[in-house]
Amino acid sequence: MAQSGPSTPQTKLGGYDFFRKVLGSPKYVVAPMVDQSELAWRTLSRKYGAQLIYTPMINARMFAQDQRKSYRPEMFDIENGEEGAPGDRPLIVQFAANDPDWLLKAAKIVEGHCDAVDINLGCPQDIARRGHYGSFLQDEWDLIYKMINNLHKNLAIPVTAKFRVFPTVEKTVEYAKMLESAGAQILTCHGRTREQRGHHSGLADWEKIRAVKEAVSVPVIANGNILFHSDIEACLAATGADAVMSAEGNLYNPALFLAASSSSLADPALPSTWCVASDGGAHLPHTRLALEYLAIVKGQKTRTKGSAVKGHLFKLLRPALGRATDLRDRLGRIQVKRVGDKEAWDQYEAIVRELDERMLADAKAAEGTPVDELITVHDPTGLKLMPHWVAQPYFRAAPKAAAQAEQNEEKAEEVVAKGGEPQCAPEPAGVDAPPPPPDSAVGKRAHSERTPEPDELAKRVRLTQEEAGEPVAVAS
Ligand SMILES: Cc1cc2nc3c(=O)[nH]c(=O)nc-3n(C[C@H](O)[C@H](O)[C@H](O)COP(=O)(O)O)c2cc1C
Repeated sequence: MAQSGPSTPQTKLGGYDFFRKVLGSPKYVVAPMVDQSELAWRTLSRKYGAQLIYTPMINARMFAQDQRKSYRPEMFDIENGEEGAPGDRPLIVQFAANDPDWLLKAAKIVEGHCDAVDINLGCPQDIARRGHYGSFLQDEWDLIYKMINNLHKNLAIPVTAKFRVFPTVEKTVEYAKMLESAGAQILTCHGRTREQRGHHSGLADWEKIRAVKEAVSVPVIANGNILFHSDIEACLAATGADAVMSAEGNLYNPALFLAASSSSLADPALPSTWCVASDGGAHLPHTRLALEYLAIVKGQKTRTKGSAVKGHLFKLLRPALGRATDLRDRLGRIQVKRVGDKEAWDQYEAIVRELDERMLADAKAAEGTPVDELITVHDPTGLKLMPHWVAQPYFRAAPKAAAQAEQNEEKAEEVVAKGGEPQCAPEPAGVDAPPPPPDSAVGKRAHSERTPEPDELAKRVRLTQEEAGEPVAVAS
């Protein structure tokens, strides 16, 4: 479905024509994620059902200037011919920018290698405030209009925008309409406000996404609160959106989009407990997913950053690492000496294989136990905990989340202070949130009982890699 080369401004499609004919009407979208939605992860995610993926955010000015001649190949490696190739489509390249000319220059470099260019209007962190991008442009509508409109008029492929909601529905809708009038051909609406970050992240507001969807004529992608497979349909029904986008859910379970009926679940040679079907979704053994990911990293020409690989492994294997602390420590000690360090990948693989043997033994020991008994309830949240050998979402307690958010922020500041690139890091959910949407996995419990108190909401926060012993990865 994806186009193989640049279209001309005269022939480029827009809105639903573009969404259907070029992107193939995707419903399952993987979010732009700094250091995490890199080519190898995209390949894995596509295999397990992702239908459209965004690159990590790229700093437009640095990409266009590329004074060090290293930023460009690191962020989007055109030379090797794999990023944006037919196997890596549909693909949207995301930029952070605050200057229409630099943005256009950067976008021109990738226009023949992706299906659209997205503008990040959502990053809420202090580094984005200082860098003057992301959600801190939310009050500069003229500038946003010019950036979008410049790409709309001068780029051979469509421009799209990903943004956060405002505190009121009215302002959110007015903003979305402005983005559409500037020329954005798809709007991704993250249902959290700019203030919902760090330990104030909370839950996304699907009502506001619905209002946006009803107000604009271009396709809308809903973002926020997708933890389990069953959340996908719930979100689509609640928002009326054309597709859902997942970030953290995808990182902890790259098969989040895979339906439980999928044939990947049936392998008579393996214990019947090895894969778990729940709420319409498939939970595959995380060690097998990790081995597949490492094989992709090793097999492609495009080099993957050590921080990306380490970040993925710690998130993916998290349900088991609390038990296998010896392997967790060994994982943490591996030094990746350079981008694409094959020796380090082999070391990671050896550890994952050891973990895999232990997980297989645990799954075998559980054979004969009904699936329902293998699934327990996470006490503070009421959400489902799968057996420790399968990929699953991660929940964490608020105080650690807050500490983690602050730690991330400080580290990011250090990176900037050292001349590194300001970027957007994870946004853990937290307190002070609006009530969860009633149909989400999170919301079902909350609404069936009572409106949750803030400290209870605080407990429904996803866990971080810190708790699994992961050295905190800083977006760099
Ligand atoms: C590791 C990580 C990196 C992220 N990097 C970006 C980014 O580069 N650009 C962006 O627009 N949002 C970024 N985000 C935000 C996500 O795209 C998404 O909007 C947010 O996490 C909410 O979705 P979720 O509830 O599915 O996690 C990032 C999130 C995570 C977890």
